[in-house]
Amino acid sequence: MTTTAPRPAAEAGGTPSRLVDRFGRPHRDLRISLTDRCSLRCTYCMPADGVPWLPRDELLSTDELVRVAAVGVSLGITEIRLTGGEPLLRPDVVDVVRRLAALEGPDGPPELSLTTNALRLPRLAGPLRDAGLQRVNVSLDTLDRERFVALTRRDRLDDTLAGLAAADAAGLWPVKVNAVAMRGVNDDEVVALTRFAVERGYQMRFIEQMPLDGGHTWDRTAMVSQAEILDRLSAAFTLTEVPGRGAAPAELWFVDGGPATVGVIASVTAPFCSACDRLRLTADGQLRACLFARTEVDTRVVLRADDGGPDATDALLAEAFVHCLAGKKAGHDIGEPAFVQPDRPMSAIGG
Ligand code: 5AD
Ligand code: SF4
Repeated sequence: MTTTAPRPAAEAGGTPSRLVDRFGRPHRDLRISLTDRCSLRCTYCMPADGVPWLPRDELLSTDELVRVAAVGVSLGITEIRLTGGEPLLRPDVVDVVRRLAALEGPDGPPELSLTTNALRLPRLAGPLRDAGLQRVNVSLDTLDRERFVALTRRDRLDDTLAGLAAADAAGLWPVKVNAVAMRGVNDDEVVALTRFAVERGYQMRFIEQMPLDGGHTWDRTAMVSQAEILDRLSAAFTLTEVPGRGAAPAELWFVDGGPATVGVIASVTAPFCSACDRLRLTADGQLRACLFARTEVDTRVVLRADDGGPDATDALLAEAFVHCLAGKKAGHDIGEPAFVQPDRPMSAIGG
């Protein structure tokens, strides 16, 4: 974003975050990628053969990532979102959730949610809920089996749907469904996906496609914009804006008077950078201030340096958070001539 000046986001009650950047934005949301691997190969995310995976010894161990998260929580992080790749591919994901749920910040334990393709939810939804997970966001771009195969390069639509139902049955509410809108691929399914979600009590959200694909094939002219999504929805439903968006990326509308809502995440045409409260930790321990950041701060070297004992390590990790924030820009510049896609694909950053 280059046209709108950032405004300080209002502090939402509780203890002030110590993670305030130079534009006055307090940071409360930490997204942790548990692995860069995935069981699907969505075309907007990965090439057919996948991407070169991160070397195993470079991935943070569970002790290491919980430690970074604990420092973040002590500094004012109140919300942790687990991502991937596909986070449920991490063999000890239930244990990770249990340990993160036990962290204590100045305002109590963090809120815990997870973004997933849902394939492993039939088995894991219950145990994750018991371990302290509160919510899930499930990625589902189409309800058509052939399209699902073309889009994800795997024949797993039924498993995704079973995963969604399992999340609902386990009480991981509100169950949110994310779809990346793509021209000629699923743009004609905006209404059908919304109906599907409304009928089941899920929250449907459409995402404008961002230039984050491993294959570097993003094309702005092919992108389906928020305006176009709303046009399609308005033809089938009465939409009324839900007030009070705060730092949330999705703008929400009541569907036919509510209570069901549909959301659009307009990262490209209406960026929400001025209210951004998010930081990211990659599976290999790099702190990122933005999906589109060109720089990272390495926590792994701090964690693995054998000097000064645990207190010194925690102090250095706190410095890493502060250093990362100091470099945070006002916003991304997708669409500007100077825009450079990050070297890492989405699967290695965490959505
Ligand atoms: N643009 C927008 N959203 C994306 N996601 C993955 N790649 C992109 C992209 N290039 C979404 C997935 C999932 C979440 C992790 O991010 O659909 O919902
Ligand atoms: Fe996997 Fe998510 Fe990427 Fe699809 S978008 S390949 S589900 S990481």
